[in-house]
Amino acid sequence: MSMIDLLYHRRSTRKFLDKPVEVDKVKQLITAGLLAPSSKNNRPWEFLIVDEPEKLKVLSYSRHYGSSFLANTPLAIIVLGSPEKSDVWVEDCSLASLLIQLEAESMGLGSCWVQIRSRSHDEELSASEYLRRHFDIPADKEVLSIIGVGYKEQERRPRTEQDLVWDKVRRNSYDSKMKF
Ligand SMILES: Cc1cc2nc3c(=O)[nH]c(=O)nc-3n(C[C@H](O)[C@H](O)[C@H](O)COP(=O)(O)O)c2cc1C
Repeated sequence: MSMIDLLYHRRSTRKFLDKPVEVDKVKQLITAGLLAPSSKNNRPWEFLIVDEPEKLKVLSYSRHYGSSFLANTPLAIIVLGSPEKSDVWVEDCSLASLLIQLEAESMGLGSCWVQIRSRSHDEELSASEYLRRHFDIPADKEVLSIIGVGYKEQERRPRTEQDLVWDKVRRNSYDSKMKF
């Protein structure tokens, strides 16, 4: 499949088969993350693999809304960043997160991003702090995202050309829309 076809086909998957992701595939997902470009090649990311059902359940409670599907997901990758290593760790960790998602799609797996940075667990605790406590994450690391991965229960409708918002594209001046 060409890259553009892969991009059309990648949809967020939140329902998975009750089937583990093989360890060689987990390795390949992490390889994709480790190959991500990063500002000044600082590589401020780290990846915490979660595949124990009890721990996945803990992950599913990270957020009041938006993380519950992780309870029935066979694999999750917590993407951590080091603000001390890079002022643009958010961008670097976002790229690593997306590459993991694209690699998942290319291996026939589904995935979904769960936002952790800037999100709350409850009225008192941030989602990051909640995860820090449950997964012994050191104080100098921040959590950007959790990428849930597994075998798709169903294929979702791929994007089509009708989904593309060409109005967002301009040429040479913001006043001038690009027409292809
Ligand atoms: C930065 C970011 C944060 C997201 N956070 C969540 C989330 O917390 N929970 C969730 O279920 N999906 C989350 N998503 C998935 C989006 O809802 C999804 O990508 C969007 O609706 C477009 O659908 P698609 O991925 O199928 O193209 C997030 C995606 C991104 C890029």
